[in-house]
Amino acid sequence: LGKKLLFFKELSSTQDEIKKRALSEPSGLVVWADRQTKGRGRLSRSWYSPRGAGLYFSILLKEPLAQPVTLYSLATAIGVAQGLDQLLNIPVQLKWPNDILLRQKKIGGILLEKIPSGLIIGIGLNVSFKKEDLPPEIREKATSIFLETGLVLSRPRLLKAILVELEKIYEKLKEKGFSAIEKAWLKRDVVLGSRVVLKRGEEVITGQAVGLTPEGNLLIEANQDLITISSGEIVMWEI
Ligand code: BTN
Repeated sequence: LGKKLLFFKELSSTQDEIKKRALSEPSGLVVWADRQTKGRGRLSRSWYSPRGAGLYFSILLKEPLAQPVTLYSLATAIGVAQGLDQLLNIPVQLKWPNDILLRQKKIGGILLEKIPSGLIIGIGLNVSFKKEDLPPEIREKATSIFLETGLVLSRPRLLKAILVELEKIYEKLKEKGFSAIEKAWLKRDVVLGSRVVLKRGEEVITGQAVGLTPEGNLLIEANQDLITISSGEIVMWEI
């Protein structure tokens, strides 16, 4: 991954830049932007991407997908956490399906988009944001690596560390599927075993997060029923 890396001062979204290049460029292409004017998040939200404060990049993975997309998403979160771990002294946590957390607050997210030739994997990390840089509507739930650790990480170093880990974990995932990532996920998961409130579209589900399925979906026990969640967002959880 990242044998070919393109850096831009500004893009609307690194996802869209990869999409445009998907036919002509090789698998493993990385597009990195210092700033995005239309950064996108999951569930049709925007991703705040001001200059200098974050790491915003996307990866082109051109291959027939050997595993369900959700497993790629969990694997990506693990790879990012393992890359970060090498540079930080506090543990990196994960929240299903792919939020990256420090001390229970979000520092990064992952957006996967399926294309005919494979996948586009977008990663956004809040590197050096100060409190007042975070928009008020996310100040409660979001934080940055700097705010939690006092460190201003070098973005090229961080990018490199993450790409090395991602390459390894995608390889393992291809060979072994869910069993390749299950342990690493459980070690970092912040919600398993806890009571959670989850939003699935307009629907609100309250229950206990009890585990993952081999496809990477979340299992919730609610009123003696087991519900399999393939898409949604955990909005509250017990710490
Ligand atoms: C989320 O948590 O909602 C996912 C956020 C993903 C943001 C990254 S930043 C790089 C890439 N380009 C985008 O427009 N989005 C992803």
